[in-house]
Amino acid sequence: MNSDRETLLDLEESTFSHIPVLSREVIEGLAVRPGGHYLDATVGGGGHSRLILEAAPDVRVTALDQDEQALLAAKKELFEYNNRVKFILTNFAAQKFQEETFDGIIADLGVSSYHLDTPERGFSFRHEASLDMRMDQRQSLTAADIINNSDEIELADIFFRYGEERLSRRMARRIVEKRPFHTTLELANAIAYCVSPKYRHGRIHPATRVFQALRIVVNDELKSLETFIDQAPKALIPGGRIAIISFHSLEDRIVKHGFRNSPSLRVLTKKPITAAEEEIDDNPRSRSAKLRIAQRE
Ligand SMILES: C[S@@+](CC[C@H](N)C(=O)[O-])C[C@H]1O[C@@H](n2cnc3c(N)ncnc32)[C@H](O)[C@@H]1O
Repeated sequence: MNSDRETLLDLEESTFSHIPVLSREVIEGLAVRPGGHYLDATVGGGGHSRLILEAAPDVRVTALDQDEQALLAAKKELFEYNNRVKFILTNFAAQKFQEETFDGIIADLGVSSYHLDTPERGFSFRHEASLDMRMDQRQSLTAADIINNSDEIELADIFFRYGEERLSRRMARRIVEKRPFHTTLELANAIAYCVSPKYRHGRIHPATRVFQALRIVVNDELKSLETFIDQAPKALIPGGRIAIISFHSLEDRIVKHGFRNSPSLRVLTKKPITAAEEEIDDNPRSRSAKLRIAQRE
């Protein structure tokens, strides 16, 4: 697992980057065709959708996002194409897919640079903000609810399973002793106290893994991904392709097995496609990106 340290770091580094990840590989992989209809399940800032719309004439896109702010940003970004884009505010796991609708599907998982850049969304421990971390602000469960209401064993389990945090028990114990917590920095500082001073100010903030774990649980990210991979393939026309970009090993494992076990998909990428050095230099977020592509039989 080379990438766990990097993956987690990249989540924070991506703050200033708005470049769609693995652009060329996604467009080539989807083999966008004139007049085709594509699903962007995670439209975010609209970067991949724009590339799809530009890749061939008369392309249409259905664009999903569970975050209303992201959808508004994408509407602005794709203004000139708005008559060819349908925007839907939804979790991709809740979307009711019609049979054989799309020529291709892209999902670029996780949070966007917008989320990390906007302190009040509570995703980043670099800014003081309430402990929120909801991508879908219509839901009620926040990171503060989990931190303040779960018991010590549940917290340790969350940090270990979803953050692969080795000091999960020690961190959970301290959190339970010191709670309630209301803000990102209060929590990050309590976690930092659990590691020896020499690591406290290291390259990777000691709270990085716990923040990833909380984000995954608040947004039920892994379950949503499993449901999506189960449901989405039927929405492809025969020969249509699905491309998914993941950013950590827990997600990549679900994509790999989901594609392999799907009765209607043929895997096109034996190994995941990763970013070239030049892209990594331009866009640190791409360093941990893994793209897998499959085709409907
Ligand atoms: C990495 S960003 C996508 C960036 C986009 N590809 C671009 O080029 O601008 C991920 C987006 O997916 C959304 N998202 C994450 N999980 C989702 C889910 N289960 N359903 C719908 N949207 C989701 C997030 O709100 C975020 O806006």
